Amino acid sequence: MALIKSIGYTIEINTNNYKSISAFVTKNKFSSYFILCDENTMHCCLAKLISNCPKLNTAQIIEIESGEASKSIEISLHIWQTLLENNADKNSLLINLGGGVVSDLGGFCASTFKRGIKFITIPTSLLAMADASVGGKTGIDFGGFKNTVGTFAQPEAVFVNPDFLSTLPKKHFYNGLAEIFKIALVCDKKFWMQLKSGSIETNLNAIIYNSILLKNKIVKKDPFDNNIRKILNFGHSIGHAIESILLETSDELLHGEAILIGMFIESHIAYQKKLLSKTELNEIVSTLKRVFDSKPINAINATSLLDALVHDKKNTKNKFLFSLPNSIGTCKINVDVKETHLKKGLDFYNNLA
Ligand SMILES: NC(=O)c1ccc[n+]([C@@H]2O[C@H](COP(=O)([O-])OP(=O)(O)OC[C@H]3O[C@@H](n4cnc5c(N)ncnc54)[C@H](O)[C@@H]3O)[C@@H](O)[C@H]2O)c1
Repeated sequence: MALIKSIGYTIEINTNNYKSISAFVTKNKFSSYFILCDENTMHCCLAKLISNCPKLNTAQIIEIESGEASKSIEISLHIWQTLLENNADKNSLLINLGGGVVSDLGGFCASTFKRGIKFITIPTSLLAMADASVGGKTGIDFGGFKNTVGTFAQPEAVFVNPDFLSTLPKKHFYNGLAEIFKIALVCDKKFWMQLKSGSIETNLNAIIYNSILLKNKIVKKDPFDNNIRKILNFGHSIGHAIESILLETSDELLHGEAILIGMFIESHIAYQKKLLSKTELNEIVSTLKRVFDSKPINAINATSLLDALVHDKKNTKNKFLFSLPNSIGTCKINVDVKETHLKKGLDFYNNLA
């Protein structure tokens, strides 16, 4: 068992942490329980949780459809309505049992309902375990853009149980792995070398732990994303723009897949800006290509990418500010990126894909 202290709560990583969850709910004497899950986590994870934590038998289950489309104001209304109809009060607990969609959405609804009720996160996807459940960012997509409306809100606790990953589909596993490679690339060369060397599945628990540890260290220094935390945005300026473009189309691209494309393009921009050498660029690109099966994004052209970037929270007026690696394992924030850099980066990616 491993415990990591975050901002006012702990993250417990343990393949059998039901006892801790039971102890947590017993100790805190909540007035009522709500469990938010999607149809997949309801099917694969809910019964395991409740049978191991019988106190949660009385919980009201709120089921949403899986997928990014559920991070919406309509689904938030449904969750608030259910909480209201079931008399949720300031002493109720919302349990987010799912991937990053459930933790972002559930955290948002809990932190806004009656100005904030308590919530815990039990992440069930690799992305949610290694990344999304840590750091207190909650939110929904709105107006065709990712994470437009949201809060910074910390859970009461996070219980990471890697055993849940046994039912996670392979493509969602790689989706989460992309964020883990990103964390390594921006802040820990040794971790990058470990990931690069291959034995990921056999070292998974340690990899999840390391990823949480690194992210948590950064978040604790800069909880509100004003400074050092921005290094975690590497790959996300382009990645979020691509996700926003595809949000209202039938093309499906997972968050990690979009971030992966973002990492290819932004690494090339880092090379153009002379932050990365050709050798480092080649190492990043060849490693990511070997580990991941990157999907080409034919639908994206430079104009729509630029339009989407204008709405990115990370950009200020007329300026694209990116977080770019300046070696493997370090990252520079607020790098001024021009339209020409973006176009060249996109061409580089299109030639790779
Ligand atoms: N708040 C943050 O700091 C942060 C960081 C990174 C990403 N995110 C957000 O996270 C979201 C993506 O998260 P995600 O990749 O986990 O997506 P997701 O929540 O949609 O989960 C991926 C898929 O796996 C299924 N699933 C999850 N756990 C399962 C299990 N144990 N067994 C079977 N199926 C399971 C889900 O039902 C879904 O179909 C995006 O909206 C992204 O913006 C947030």
